[in-house]
Amino acid sequence: MHYSNARLVIEEALQKANLKIKDIDLISFSIGPGLGPCLQVGAVAARALALGNKKPLIGVNHCVAHVEIAKKITNAKEAIFVYASGANTQIIGYESGKYRVYGETLDIGIGNLLDSFGRSLGIGFPAGPKIDEMYFQAKNYIELPYSVKGMDLVFAGLETAAERKIGKADKTDLAYSLMHTAFAELTEVSERALAHTERKELVLTGGVAASKALRKMMDEMCNARGAKLLVPPFGVCTDNGAMISWLGIVEHKAGIKQEILETRILPRQRTDNVEITWV
Ligand code: FE2
Repeated sequence: MHYSNARLVIEEALQKANLKIKDIDLISFSIGPGLGPCLQVGAVAARALALGNKKPLIGVNHCVAHVEIAKKITNAKEAIFVYASGANTQIIGYESGKYRVYGETLDIGIGNLLDSFGRSLGIGFPAGPKIDEMYFQAKNYIELPYSVKGMDLVFAGLETAAERKIGKADKTDLAYSLMHTAFAELTEVSERALAHTERKELVLTGGVAASKALRKMMDEMCNARGAKLLVPPFGVCTDNGAMISWLGIVEHKAGIKQEILETRILPRQRTDNVEITWV
């Protein structure tokens, strides 16, 4: 699937930007984290483009790319970044040469929790937007396990507990309660990260940043402590090519160069594995 689409995607991107490949100065792609076979397709396509057109090539980290594009678009100076997506949930901040992960999920991403619960509830995929609507229609909170481990989060137990109540409780109340519990956990650790670092900006990104419920909760928390909530437009919150290109430009300008052999994919590369030399 990825192989058969790679060429079309590249052609379409050039067409939309009204550019030819000769106008491109730098090729960048994601080296990880992610699923190996998918990353490999991107890497092969990027290497072929770079070699075939004699362009420099740079492999970048997917999570750092989310942070850098969000920082650029919101003009954040010294922020805490909450990256909440299907696969990832991390609370990130720059400190001494790295983007430190102050807190993160120990099992599934918060978007995955919503989609997986939505499937059990029979409301289709993706379930996030539907649950977000149900959130504002619910009448009662149903008690569910609240699981914060220090600065980290665990969602699987919450999902199982909520699934066991399907058929015994009102669907809308249950969806609201699951979302409210998960978002309250995320807001709690985000607030502690702000307090610990004494920062006054919180940037919310990743696909789950589209949730009105999460924005409301984070906004209330930020207001209460004199901090500002910044959310980039949705198109740059979800996975997108611009973030990979932008981080490529940032690293290239910082003088980072990679030979082809150094562009191996790293499916498990963490946000805090990457040396940040440009901040
Ligand atoms: Fe992502």
